[in-house]
Formats: sequence, structure tokens, C-alpha cells
Amino acid sequence: MYYNMYSRLVNVRTFGGSRPCVILVLLMPKFYLTNAIAYVNAGPHMGHALEAVQGDALARYHRMIGDEVYFLVGTDEHGSKIQQVAKDKGMEPQALADMNAALFVDFHKKVNASNDDFIRTTSERHKEGARKIWELIEAAGKFYDKEYEGKYCTGCEAFILDKDLVEGLCAIHKRAPDVLKEKNIFFKLSDYSEAIKAKVESGELEIRPASRRNEFLSFLKEGLQDVSFSRPKKTLSWGIEVPGHEDQVMYVWCDALTNYMTALGYAEDSELYKKFWPADVHLIGKDIIRFHCGIWIGMLMAAQLPLPKAVYVHGFVTSEGQKMSKSLGNVVDPMELLEKYGADPVRYYLLREIPSDDDGDFSRERFAVVYKDELQNTIGNLVRRVLTIATKSFEGKMLQGDGHFNERIDAAWERYREHFEAFNIKGALEAMVELARLANLYVDEEKPWVLAKTDLARLEVVMGNLVVLIRVLGEMLEPVLPETAEKILTQVGKDSLVLGDALFPPID
Ligand code: MF3
Repeated sequence: MYYNMYSRLVNVRTFGGSRPCVILVLLMPKFYLTNAIAYVNAGPHMGHALEAVQGDALARYHRMIGDEVYFLVGTDEHGSKIQQVAKDKGMEPQALADMNAALFVDFHKKVNASNDDFIRTTSERHKEGARKIWELIEAAGKFYDKEYEGKYCTGCEAFILDKDLVEGLCAIHKRAPDVLKEKNIFFKLSDYSEAIKAKVESGELEIRPASRRNEFLSFLKEGLQDVSFSRPKKTLSWGIEVPGHEDQVMYVWCDALTNYMTALGYAEDSELYKKFWPADVHLIGKDIIRFHCGIWIGMLMAAQLPLPKAVYVHGFVTSEGQKMSKSLGNVVDPMELLEKYGADPVRYYLLREIPSDDDGDFSRERFAVVYKDELQNTIGNLVRRVLTIATKSFEGKMLQGDGHFNERIDAAWERYREHFEAFNIKGALEAMVELARLANLYVDEEKPWVLAKTDLARLEVVMGNLVVLIRVLGEMLEPVLPETAEKILTQVGKDSLVLGDALFPPID
């Protein structure tokens, strides 16, 4: 019975794929997943790598269980930060944005992300949609003008209250904010404190992990403040013009958050938008919870648009135990890792070693250990040992075994699924690795190299059991290590066994 979960998936795939079946397609739940869009002041860093691979694993998992998935990534291209960096480099902001957006597109390819689209906030489709949402909020009477003096952190792209400063500095960026005095259009976010609280408490808006949900709920106790939603063009020109107020541009977060809808073609009320909105999951970092669970939800409520269902929050990646910083010289460049090792080893480290919903560390030493212990030894050698003996002794004939591992496989699928659905990809991989360890123990106990000389009938059963288990490893690895999974599933195909190259060659 070990196929109980997977066979359902295979059926859905077969009917939905090669023989299109309208009824099954209609029954396929949709799953719209978004990653946060990256600022284009610089290229990708390890935090982007973590989010990209987490999002991609979730997207691929949901495709595997038969959901109709739409996975969005993109770049956040307006605002003071981009304008400032462009000025420092003597570039036009658009040229800087084009250059770095290209790096992010390339980065998503290199990490083997299966995103369905890549949205840029300087694109026309985005600007049109952002203006449309603005107009709905305006029509609801939720904007007002105000002369305002406040402290603005360009790193956060947000005004910061005195009580949130640490010795006069932004707690995240460790820089003194700029004092700005200007006329802005304010969004009445304070009107939505109670309504947002109710959605979070009832679970209609799910925030994972629970610790982040609680943190946000206690932040809500003070009540949400109204937010400056525009900047005068004379101080910030790099933004989307506010409809009807051509001397103002939209606040960059107001502009950016709408990407999740504009990318689907919200501006023209497209079929894609109607099908996929609201988002099932917004995947974000722990520093931008308030923007997503506060401002964004308030905007959607004001515009009377459907709300996303869940926000999953990941942590930060440290380097050798410390925050990555240029001055410490411990910045790890994900592009360099990807070019050196390929996507799968980097994906495995980030998903297996870093808790999905918390901070984690990257170290070269640990990378080598995880690669050697789990990828090379536990998985790679198992596949190689089994396929070598099985192909040699039985000439590539498919082997079935006697169901020895069935119960363990069922239990592992169960844990794998539960963990994936609870945004614990690390836990799902633990279930996979334990299965592989079990297979290695079985090899040690059964000694197939001895059986090959003494008892071919028994060898056939033992090899069959191992082949069945290896196929499950391949299936479980599909969302996480797509290239490796394909190699495994080619070797232990449906009708024959083929010995392939080593899955994980030695690294230095
Ligand atoms: N660019 C922002 C950051 O890197 C994230 C924007 S996510 C969005 O922190 F929802 F606003 F788009």
C-alpha cells in the first residue's frame, strides 16, 4: 500500500497531463504562492537564496500533490534606496534597476526556481494595477493630506517612531534616519486595527510560525498608525505618479505590495487574476511582517479586495555564526556557490540545514559536512551500491521485493506531507533521510555482495525492496533537488534499472 499518497498524485498527473480531463482539472485546487520582490539596489544575497529555494520547494511540492500552482517572484524597483544608490553610482535609476533585475532573473534560473512569472515594478502592467488599487482606496475615502515631520530610514523604506530607535539608530540598519518634513498623502490604516486583529485571531489570515503570529498580535495591541503613502516628487522622483496628484509619487511599499495582484493582470481584470487571487501563501522574511500583515491587509480591506490566506515567515542567514557584513568580510555570494556546486547542493543545504521558519547559519565547513554525510554517503552511495549490484545480477530487470519497507514508507510519506504543509521543509527532509538511513542499515544487514554468491533468489527480494525505497527517495526529492530526483527516477524507472553516474561527485 506504500503508494497511497503518491499513486493519487500520479493519477492526477496522468489524467490532467497526457489525457486532459476537464473534470479533474476543475477539481485541482489552485495554489498561488508569492515570494517577496527584491530591491534592485544590489544583486542577490544569501537571504534571497533562502527565500528562492523555500518558495520553489513549496511550489514544486504543491505541483506534485496535484495543485494547479502559480509561483511569482520579481523585483522591487522604486523608492529612495534605489534612487540614492543610482545617484552614488552616477547611473539613472532605470539603468541600475535593469542591470540588477537581470541579475535576479539569472539567479532564479541558476537556483533552478520554477517561477511562472517575474514581475518588475517598473513595468507598465504593474504601474497600471498599482494606480487602480490606489483609486479604490481613494474612492473609499481612506486617504487624507497632512504636513508631516518624521524620521525616515532608507534601509527600511519607512518612517520610524522614536520609541523604535535604538540610541537614535534604526535597529536593523544601524543608521540614523533622515529627518523629513513634507506634505504627504496618508492612508488611514488605523481604521483597520481591529478588523486585522480579528482575521489573524480567527485564522482566516494564517501567520506561520506561531511565534511570528503572536509577535504580530502583540504589536497590534498598540493599534496600527496611519501611514504616509506618498512622497513629494521634488524630494523623491523615482516612483509611480499618484493618480490625480502629479506632484506626488506613491510610497514604495504601497507600490511594491500590489505586485502580488498586478502580476496576475489585475489592471485588466484578467482570467489569471480571477483564477489565482487571493494568494494562498505570501512567503516573506521576518523583517517585513508588519508591511504584509498590517499595511497590505489594510489596503485590501479598504479596496474591498479578497485577502491572502497565509503569510509564511522565514528568518535570516548568518555566516559562520555572525551577521553577514562587508566590514566583517564574511559575505557569502550565492551566485558563486551556485556556479561552483550547481543548484542542488546549495538548495539542499538551505532547506535541510536552516530551520524553515527561523534563522540559520551558513558555513563552508558545515556545507562540506552535509554534502558528504547526507548527499554523498547516505543517498548517493546507497543508490550506487544498489544499482551496481541489481544491474549486474539481474541485467536491468525491474525488481519488486516483498513489501519489506511498505509500512515505513507509508509512515515517512505521512510525516513528509505533514511537515511540508506546516512549512517545515527541514522536517520533511528529515523523514526522507531517515528512510535512506534505514535502507543503508538493511544493506549492511543483508550483505547483498555475499548473497550474490550464495542465494540469488534472496538477493532478488532484497534488491527489489531497496529499489522500491530508492524510488520513494527520488519522489520525495522532486520538490527539493529537482535535478537529482530526475537522475534517481531515471535509474529506477518503471520498467527497468539503469546504473548512472555518481549523483554527488567529490567537492573540495
Ligand atoms: N523589497 C522588499 C524587501 O526586500 C520586499 C518587498 S515585498 C512586497 O524588503 F510585497 F512589498 F513586494
